[in-house]
Amino acid sequence: MNKTALITGASSGLGKDFANLYAEKGYNLVLTARREDNLKLIAADLIEKHKVDILIISADLGKQDAPSKIFSFCNENNVKIDILINNAGYGLVGEFDKLSWEKHNAFINVLSTSAIALTRLLLPSMLAEKYGRIINISSVAAFAPYTNSGGMYIATKLMILKFSEMIHNEYKSRNIYSCAVCPGFTHTEFHKDMGEFKSSIPSFMWMDSRKVVEQSYAASMSGKDIIINGWFYKVLVFFMKITPKWLVKLGSN
Ligand SMILES: NC(=O)c1ccc[n+]([C@@H]2O[C@H](COP(=O)([O-])OP(=O)(O)OC[C@H]3O[C@@H](n4cnc5c(N)ncnc54)[C@H](OP(=O)(O)O)[C@@H]3O)[C@@H](O)[C@H]2O)c1
Repeated sequence: MNKTALITGASSGLGKDFANLYAEKGYNLVLTARREDNLKLIAADLIEKHKVDILIISADLGKQDAPSKIFSFCNENNVKIDILINNAGYGLVGEFDKLSWEKHNAFINVLSTSAIALTRLLLPSMLAEKYGRIINISSVAAFAPYTNSGGMYIATKLMILKFSEMIHNEYKSRNIYSCAVCPGFTHTEFHKDMGEFKSSIPSFMWMDSRKVVEQSYAASMSGKDIIINGWFYKVLVFFMKITPKWLVKLGSN
């Protein structure tokens, strides 16, 4: 029987490309995001092209109860999840004290709590089946040597990186692999409202979303605990790790 992948944030960008790749490879899918219309179009296209089974569920992962709703939806439809791709995310702009707690809470839920909750809910059946592949989308931002603006994004990405590593180390001997994916700038809808900022980033720093997804798939299947996408970012992360905080502080003043 075909295995099934649950993909969060499947309505655009990396999530949509994950849906494309896994459908091409014959996996059945459960796709979730808030934009139901996008999910419907993506599912219809992939069902026609690849003859796989696809269910969609619209959910706002900013809400605490969303992971249990998605879990119940899978159970009600007798779908067992073999592959979990925790991908949903967005950027949060503004000073910490200027943003309401509600905004922070929703952000933390989408980028980290929901991923941890879905993993906790789905892990028992993966353990029972002796098979599970989990991909957690972190970011090269998780390696930032010094944090000020954008700090909540960095904090959640570091959380998911460490969480992913913990799951991998705890369960890899039982054939559950968890891979933290750390892309740099990637062409998706992520920067759609950041026109000027986007054009200020040199083109060699941008990666193709499909390429990131292909690398992530290969890393996950071969049991890698972490992947930094692309040679440029591998080198950058190396320097981020060895650069002392005082030097970065100096540069940011
Ligand atoms: N693009 C980059 O440069 C880059 C670099 C490093 C890491 N990442 C990470 O990659 C992941 C995917 O982002 P992307 O680049 O593909 O951006 P994207 O095209 O904007 O996709 C983000 C996805 O997350 C979903 N999402 C956002 N808020 C949500 C919510 N409250 N509830 C449920 N789903 C929600 C969106 O769906 P709906 O709007 O339909 O809900 C969408 O499907 C994110 O975790 C991001 O942090 C991106």
